[in-house]
Amino acid sequence: MSYLLGIDVGTSGTKSVLFNEHGAVLASATREYPLYQPCNGWAEQDPDDWWDASVETVRSVLQTAAIQPADIAGVGISGQMHGLVLLDGKGNVLRKAILWCDQRTAAQCEEITWLVGRARLIEITANPALTGFTAGKILWVRENEPAIYEKCCHILLPKDYIRYKLTGEFATDVSDASGMQLLDVPGRKWADEVLEKLEIERSLLCRVYESAEVTGTVHRQAAEVTGLAFGTPVVGGAGDNAAAAVGTGVVRDGRAFTTIGTSGVVYAHSSGVRIDAKGRVHTFCSAVPGEWHVMGVTLAAGLSMSWFRDNFCAEERGRAESEGRNVYDVMDEEAAKVSPGCDRLLYLPYLMGERTPHLDPDCRGVFFGLSAMHTRAHLIRAVMEGVSFSLLDCMDILSQMGLDITEMRVTGGGGTSALWRQILCDMFGCPVCTVRSRQGPALGAALLAGVGTGIFSSVPQACDTVVACDKKEQPNYERGDFYAGYHVLYQQLYTALSAGYKQLGALS
Ligand code: XUL
Repeated sequence: MSYLLGIDVGTSGTKSVLFNEHGAVLASATREYPLYQPCNGWAEQDPDDWWDASVETVRSVLQTAAIQPADIAGVGISGQMHGLVLLDGKGNVLRKAILWCDQRTAAQCEEITWLVGRARLIEITANPALTGFTAGKILWVRENEPAIYEKCCHILLPKDYIRYKLTGEFATDVSDASGMQLLDVPGRKWADEVLEKLEIERSLLCRVYESAEVTGTVHRQAAEVTGLAFGTPVVGGAGDNAAAAVGTGVVRDGRAFTTIGTSGVVYAHSSGVRIDAKGRVHTFCSAVPGEWHVMGVTLAAGLSMSWFRDNFCAEERGRAESEGRNVYDVMDEEAAKVSPGCDRLLYLPYLMGERTPHLDPDCRGVFFGLSAMHTRAHLIRAVMEGVSFSLLDCMDILSQMGLDITEMRVTGGGGTSALWRQILCDMFGCPVCTVRSRQGPALGAALLAGVGTGIFSSVPQACDTVVACDKKEQPNYERGDFYAGYHVLYQQLYTALSAGYKQLGALS
């Protein structure tokens, strides 16, 4: 029997999972690390925290599974997208990584739009200039920390730093590279025109592979620290969303998934390139060679819930601890006691600004309609509904683009809540299902390793063999109509507040 290892370098932690060829989990380990927010709207992490977490979790799964490391056919890596990692000529990290949810680059995005032209930028990179994407972060460092930029020899994405530590190779994959704003997304190669206009040297960037291609093998020193066998192949892997698509079987037209992780995503597979000329949703290469995907992103989905848990739910946390339960299950129970609409309370989930549909780094979170009758339970449910309204905004745009979604799968931490799934299902007005494996991106990365090492013949074949649907929720159309009224107000609130957000951002 051969085994496959998936390493997912997430925002809340890194998870390593060892699978057999049938996708069954032999062992799994997760290690969390801090998120640094030195200013309002900034978000950074230490790449060496990712590496330490990768080493620790890989060692842990190898120990638990008690298999011969040489029986691992291949390693796949997935990870949070867009983050900027800068290395010097010796491979040392030059500063903390600037993450996907960091919003400091509004001025740089204006500069990029001016230099390339908005329409041309969308034509080449399939997206408008976005504060979350990597190009703006590169310009920010060049302008604000020139001494650091001067020393930079390599620009990497988060998961590609782990690949570098494992194999010594500077490589990335098409799906993750799509989020840098430097890739010709239809052509699946670096966009020389954009690089020239932004004056970014191509030599700073990694070599680009398809997701299932082998990019290198584990070197001697990495084998010693991780316990992996020297020479184990490491494939391109994918950005967390493209990897989750593989892990949930969303690799054919008509299939889509919604994830409620730290960010929230509505992702639809597309065998052809489809670009929203208004730039409201992202078009990226998918992990299926020669195919793409379209997705809308809400920045603070699970993040809204974890923020609420950490700051306002001491009682639920205490109860969960004393009863040996997960705090989110306790919060779910509270939310379920409140009726849909939360007795006229709405939540706008813009804690970190927003991408879809607003592309606004300045907007911030709002509870609207607070009354003295509202309890913490109302606020918990309002957070669930507000995040779901934002995901409904994403879904609406995909429909407007003519993507015909016939199967919606739900994944991510929030997707384990039956209540949250039902809310989504009612709002979307279509059945939603979970997949049997809860491993999402880590499974997707491992399956890509299976394709790259010949265990599977193609990405869709790997998914057909391993991924199966599990629980299915059916929509309640009456409740869907009820939510539609709230959704109209939810959308109007953003418009009504947008000048205020700008004013707020300008306050010291
Ligand atoms: C996608 C995005 C997030 C991150 C973090 O564009 O920014 O989903 O990948 O998970």
